[in-house]
Amino acid sequence: MNNLEQTLSIVKPDAVERNLQNEIKKNFIENGFIIKKEKKIQISKSEAEEFYKVHQSKPFYGDLCNYLSSGPIVVMILEKENAVLENRKLMGATDPLKAEEGTLRKKYGISIDKNSVHGSDSYENAKIEIDFFFKH
Ligand code: CDP
Ligand code: MG
Repeated sequence: MNNLEQTLSIVKPDAVERNLQNEIKKNFIENGFIIKKEKKIQISKSEAEEFYKVHQSKPFYGDLCNYLSSGPIVVMILEKENAVLENRKLMGATDPLKAEEGTLRKKYGISIDKNSVHGSDSYENAKIEIDFFFKH
């Protein structure tokens, strides 16, 4: 029953550029997430390539890595019961045009590539992604 989890959230460059990080954080808090850690950083292209390496065979990989490293991002560890799935639900579909009403990508996303937020897609990947940004 008790399944307290942590997941990694990223406010992507398009949203930080529009100064939406506090508004997005408010959505997390209102939906019962606890923000355990957060930092605003800018990563290099090679760090983005490492972070998104599961997508290296995809046609959008190069653009995706250029984009994630193009400006400041806010990375957060979110904690809640079933945090991984709950965050994916709150984020909505990858393409903002297909995202449900009330989801973060529907509210803030501009396009499939500028979709404002990242969230881990599994418990295992959440651990890997949290370590990637917060281990050191
Ligand atoms: O972020 P999410 O897990 O929903 O989607 P993904 O399939 O893991 O893709 C990672 C990211 O690549 C997405 O969030 C999009 O920003 C980007 N992407 C893209 O630019 N074009 C696509 N056709 C698919 C994904
Ligand atoms: Mg994904």
